[in-house]
Amino acid sequence: MTKRIAVVPGDGIGPEVIREGMKVLDYLNESAKLGLEFTHFGWNADTYLATGISMPPGAMEDIRDNFDAVFLGAYGDPRVPDMKHAADILLGMRFQLDLYVNYRPVKLLDERLSPLKGKGMKEIDFVIFRENTEGAYVGMGGIFKKGTADEIAVQEDVNSRRGVERIIRYAFEYAKANGRKSVCMADKNNVMRFGGDLWIRTFEEVAKEYPAIEHFHMFVDALTMQMVRMPEMFDVIVTNNMFGDIVTDLGAALQGGLGMAASGNIHPGRVSLFEPIHGSAPKYAGKDHANPIGAILTAAMMLEFLGFKPESDRIEKAVTQAIAASETTSDLGGKLGTAAAGEAILRHLKGV
Ligand SMILES: NC(=O)c1ccc[n+]([C@@H]2O[C@H](COP(=O)([O-])OP(=O)(O)OC[C@H]3O[C@@H](n4cnc5c(N)ncnc54)[C@H](O)[C@@H]3O)[C@@H](O)[C@H]2O)c1
Repeated sequence: MTKRIAVVPGDGIGPEVIREGMKVLDYLNESAKLGLEFTHFGWNADTYLATGISMPPGAMEDIRDNFDAVFLGAYGDPRVPDMKHAADILLGMRFQLDLYVNYRPVKLLDERLSPLKGKGMKEIDFVIFRENTEGAYVGMGGIFKKGTADEIAVQEDVNSRRGVERIIRYAFEYAKANGRKSVCMADKNNVMRFGGDLWIRTFEEVAKEYPAIEHFHMFVDALTMQMVRMPEMFDVIVTNNMFGDIVTDLGAALQGGLGMAASGNIHPGRVSLFEPIHGSAPKYAGKDHANPIGAILTAAMMLEFLGFKPESDRIEKAVTQAIAASETTSDLGGKLGTAAAGEAILRHLKGV
């Protein structure tokens, strides 16, 4: 059965890293006959600045109705300071396609990349689930008496029972399906009492349905400390949109930096969006400098979502081998450019 993938490279280093991701996808598609069909969409800052249009009318519906996955690079361009096109496209997809699961594995692939003394591959291996459609990111609120000394800004934090329950349930289901022992829910219910009350009650209720899985709660400030002091205590972490946004960057640092991390924006059973977690890093755009591993591991995650687990595992193996051979970009201590680092991974992929 054909799987249709929308390829959206975006801005800055997005096109360069997506090009490397496509090399491994094209190779596997042909050699393992995966039946993937790719359609490229050039929505980016250039087209937005030239036309004033971020996504053409009907494009979101097209993605929703006719595709299985979106493979996206990054958005952000200094010429569009308000990030309007990025908000329309990236946040637009997250919200309009209801991609409520932000899936962020934190897995160290080589001992040498650990920033923590005495902590290696055995200790740094957990998964973060960030609620992706609610919280402080829904854009509810307003500014009163703007520009005056009496100015007031209100930013609402929205938590629905349905929204909280489905991400917590997804975290437990993931733990159950993947042999993970525990789920930790992180929030700040000591001060954010109302949203926190809903989260902790829902967490305790859902946990009862999974007696074989340990569960515990942690305040998010303590969580950041423990992720550094004792990362081995975590298997699965679930948290809200804003806390998840913050702790996943810390997670990326634990696995070797922003250039290493993959993410999925998922609605089970529907079209879902996969992207490296880094941004468009404008200072590196067009310089053949960016690390393509985040994008390549994102391609692996997308393949697993589409039902191609063996191929996904092969990509991770090839990436691990390339890192072990120091065939990497400079952020990992290597000497290769983006394209050569991608080629090295492709070469290893052909042998695994
Ligand atoms: N999902 C997204 O599209 C996304 C995410 C974050 C930031 N952004 C946007 O990207 C633009 C730049 O933001 P930023 O500088 O804060 O974040 P960034 O992730 O683009 O870059 C931060 C720094 O991380 C390093 N880095 C990131 N990706 C790398 C890679 N692949 N290889 C090597 N090093 C890498 C670089 O040192 C870079 O300067 C902004 O417009 C921002 O809004 C977009």
